[in-house]
Amino acid sequence: MPSLQDFFTNKVVVISGAASGIGAGLAHCFASLGCNLALCDIDTEALAEVADTITKQHPTTQLHIETIDVSRKAAWQSFLCNAASQLNHIDIMINNAGIEGSCQPVWATDDDVLHKVMDVNFYGMVYGSKVALPYLVKRPWAALVNVSSIFGLLAPPNTADYCASKFAIRGYTESLRAELAQIHPQVQVQLVHPGGINTNITRLPQSQKFKERFLTEEPSAIALHIAKSIMHNKARIIFGNQAGRTSLASRILPLKWLSKLLAKEIDGLDMKEDYTVDHDGFSLPKDSDKKTD
Ligand SMILES: NC(=O)c1ccc[n+]([C@@H]2O[C@H](COP(=O)([O-])OP(=O)(O)OC[C@H]3O[C@@H](n4cnc5c(N)ncnc54)[C@H](O)[C@@H]3O)[C@@H](O)[C@H]2O)c1
Repeated sequence: MPSLQDFFTNKVVVISGAASGIGAGLAHCFASLGCNLALCDIDTEALAEVADTITKQHPTTQLHIETIDVSRKAAWQSFLCNAASQLNHIDIMINNAGIEGSCQPVWATDDDVLHKVMDVNFYGMVYGSKVALPYLVKRPWAALVNVSSIFGLLAPPNTADYCASKFAIRGYTESLRAELAQIHPQVQVQLVHPGGINTNITRLPQSQKFKERFLTEEPSAIALHIAKSIMHNKARIIFGNQAGRTSLASRILPLKWLSKLLAKEIDGLDMKEDYTVDHDGFSLPKDSDKKTD
């Protein structure tokens, strides 16, 4: 087995959402392993800062950076065309960009928020995968890595929009994996299910206690784990705070127990307000509705 450095040196890696958190961790990790990088993000300033630091720390790294919105297919087409012409080819594509959901129950979540979460998290991954595939299949070895979540394995309360996008990433990627295995087995397809990682994903006031309690693992740790898992072609990459426990629970517990356990997880996280007031078109049960027997 080659060393990580030998394996990755001179490979070209594309990373979406590279301006922050896990994406920035991946960019630093692959630069330190001798890769050349194509990085994109919607946040121009933060992306330039990541690129600047990488250039200072690894002056020989070839870098292509672009501001794109991953939910726009045309943006992907132009970004990957530019990346491949500047860096010669694409070996590894990591669809990492993502946003949090509403952190509210279904009845309180705006349809617009659900659409946005699906557009960025799910369609961003769909377009990133579809547009990258023609480049990947040209290579003697390549990897497509899609970042789901432990919330692509099980679904706690107040995460229906986010879970819908992350379960969808899992379904899409597993199917694509089975398809490519038949005709392009040299392109490995891998799923990442991060547990709690200390990043900037939680921007809403109602998700700050969740962040404090769960998002504790450093992005550099999951980045290195992902790099090792790519080298070893691990189909499902599970890493981060609570990740192992969650994955096990999703496989062995009956859903009725899982739902009860998960309902308790949001206690004390300031996420219960929507359970105590009526919403437009959705009322709380009244005392008179309750069965007497
Ligand atoms: N942090 C965690 O605990 C955790 C757990 C499970 C899964 N994840 C997943 O990991 C991935 C990375 O998230 P993170 O935690 O590093 O969050 P982060 O917010 O720190 O980084 C996400 C990056 O994606 C970018 N982005 C958002 N919308 C975009 C768009 N439309 N187009 C292009 N870029 C866009 C953001 O600007 C940001 O730089 C996400 O897919 C997230 O769902 C994170």
